[in-house]
Amino acid sequence: MNGKKITVIGSINMDLVTSTTKIPKVGETVLGHSFHTIPGGKGANQAVAAARLGADVTMIGAVGNDSFGDTLVNHLTNQGINSNSIMKVKKTSTGIASIVLSDADNSIIVVPGANNHITPEVIDRHEDKIINSNILLLQLEIPLESVIRAVELAKKHGVLTILNPAPIQKLPKELLEMVDYLTPNEHEQAQLFASLDETDQELAKLKEKCIVTKGAKGVMLYKNGEKVDIPSIQVEVVDTTGAGDSFNGAMAFALCEGAEIEEASRFANVVGAISVTKLGAQTGMPTKEEVEEFLQVHKLFL
Ligand code: RIB
Repeated sequence: MNGKKITVIGSINMDLVTSTTKIPKVGETVLGHSFHTIPGGKGANQAVAAARLGADVTMIGAVGNDSFGDTLVNHLTNQGINSNSIMKVKKTSTGIASIVLSDADNSIIVVPGANNHITPEVIDRHEDKIINSNILLLQLEIPLESVIRAVELAKKHGVLTILNPAPIQKLPKELLEMVDYLTPNEHEQAQLFASLDETDQELAKLKEKCIVTKGAKGVMLYKNGEKVDIPSIQVEVVDTTGAGDSFNGAMAFALCEGAEIEEASRFANVVGAISVTKLGAQTGMPTKEEVEEFLQVHKLFL
């Protein structure tokens, strides 16, 4: 642990992963070839990514009072994450994601369950954790009003915020103004920019906050109005689920360590690449030592 604290507020899901060679059409049945239950949820994935690298991570989230919930909280604790602020919600199921994997690509249906119980009141109860963080990391698998509340509290106390706007929805202007960094993928970025005109000053400001993950095409950010392209790292892809989460957790870690945004994005790009070489969102997330070894073996310099 390095004493730099990251608080993640977000979803905790059990991923129900079916691998198949053919995705069924509506009304069709196909035979898949394997099934796994794997810890997931964008919030939990990002917390694990940062913790594996050595960050001091606190997770604020919710599970149901079912066996998935117990398994997931134990799992986060075993990853070295402070899980004391994860609520157990009665008579509610833990969030699940039904994932179909085909040709290393995926399609996902999320049923939020307990994740929807992270209300703004719950966020208020955890103001002390937000104040004591260096970075607050959020996504959009909990109610939007709670994300807004958390960013307001962070802003009030000068805590740096990163919002991974996934899954994308229409976001209020005030939220976009308050947040320090946004990490959309290309599709999410297109939606974020959709209502703004190229000549709009707001768009220029928004671009400077965006670090865009583009999968096999790498990462792109804007610096003083200029695009900076970071190429992707060639690896053998097994499962892209959670690649963006690995990127976000790693970016939060690197910023906490004092890296500036481009340097943090280059580091996160490597972590994201390593993470897709194994099945499951969290399985391939590397430790700091594993990242260093990967860089050496592949003769890469950040
Ligand atoms: O980003 C990947 C995650 O999205 C999965 O782990 C799944 O739980 C969904 O929330």
